[in-house]
Amino acid sequence: MDLLTLDADRPELDDIDLFDPERFQTASQHGAWRALRAAEPVWPSPSPDGVRVWSVTKYADVMNVLKDTRRYSSEYGTILDVRHGDPAGGKTINLMDPPRHTGVRRPTSRAMAATALRATAREINSNVERMVAPLREPGVHDFADGFLPLAMATMGPVLGIPEPDWTTIARAAMAGVAPSDPVYARGDQRQTLHSAHTELFGLLGQTIADRRRRPGKDLVSLLLSIKVDGEPLTADEVLLNCYSFVMGANTTTPHVASQLALVLAQRPDILARLKGRPGLLPHTIEEALRWASPTNHLMRRATEDVRLGGHTIRAGELISAWVASANRDEDVFERPFEFLPDRRPNPHIAFGTGVHICVGALGARVVLRLAMSKLLAGVSALEVAGPVRHVRSNFINGISELRVRVS
Ligand code: HEM
Repeated sequence: MDLLTLDADRPELDDIDLFDPERFQTASQHGAWRALRAAEPVWPSPSPDGVRVWSVTKYADVMNVLKDTRRYSSEYGTILDVRHGDPAGGKTINLMDPPRHTGVRRPTSRAMAATALRATAREINSNVERMVAPLREPGVHDFADGFLPLAMATMGPVLGIPEPDWTTIARAAMAGVAPSDPVYARGDQRQTLHSAHTELFGLLGQTIADRRRRPGKDLVSLLLSIKVDGEPLTADEVLLNCYSFVMGANTTTPHVASQLALVLAQRPDILARLKGRPGLLPHTIEEALRWASPTNHLMRRATEDVRLGGHTIRAGELISAWVASANRDEDVFERPFEFLPDRRPNPHIAFGTGVHICVGALGARVVLRLAMSKLLAGVSALEVAGPVRHVRSNFINGISELRVRVS
């Protein structure tokens, strides 16, 4: 089953469960989101532990929530699984509200900007080439596995992390967001989270210690040197920010590549069009971002009573802004359940919006374009050659196993 397309049925509201990770693995939630957009665009979702979370599913409302950092705070946590409060709240870029957020965002976004990426362009290109080359060979390959370290092609040089650690980092990042997914699990959920965090914090801790001794031009050295409100970041804050960058990059980028590869395997006409018109690729990447929306939701917490969609959300209540739903909103996108490789305009919000809009968006676009153009240059046909396994997570919409026959 292709979980990215629309379920034929439109579930009753009582049957909708947007928490259970199993449902995101075994069925599409697009039917549920479509039903909510039509009937209850701001909906008090029942959660398994009774914490009320308002599910927001329309594009305009999602935009409102994400843009208004004064009323909707990120500091309590931004994913549903930490709906009891994230211990990193207020300490790392994605879990900080302005004005403190700006103190970390401004300098770090320079490290991810075009000039910084241009300086390592050759290295990024050869990194991607090494990752994609085996996938172009005739035969059956697991594309989800092959693309897993893709984000490290840029993030490796940006963070100054050596290549032998890239796959370990990418796998641990996925285990951190989908600990019950059999592809990433190492024991039960608790053990998996423990080993993923030990691995990630261990590797990042070593990198930070090394950069303290020998500072460079990388992002870790930058985090060690910046001051926020006149104070340097604490050791804890440096580590957590490195973690945010590694997680942000590795839990998202590979899944856009895999989901686009799945589209190409299912739609030979799109593959043929792209091979004949390489200029189409940037638009197709944007459509793949909309289609895949790797970050299903972004959670926020109301700082005061707010009115949204005819409801009053009380101060302290949680809101889940469903980005994946917004990106299929019929009021914004024509034929939202069709993959249109040349869709224009395409105002998708796969990278979020507002002050927290993805700081790695340019880097992600660069590796995705490189990976796809290298793949397209070397294959004439792709065909799904096994079951497509989706990530078991309500947060990350990804593919954990995708066997494709290449010819
Ligand atoms: C296709 C790939 C990617 C997608 C779909 C994606 C998605 C997102 C989204 C939706 C947000 C907003 C979070 C929020 O509002 O709470 C975000 C923020 C962020 N992303 Fe990405 N991301 C991607 C790639 C990357 C990469 C390559 C990096 C590496 C630098 C990265 C690092 C971050 C960080 C650090 C933030 C927090 C920014 C802030 O709070 O100011 N992401 N990303």
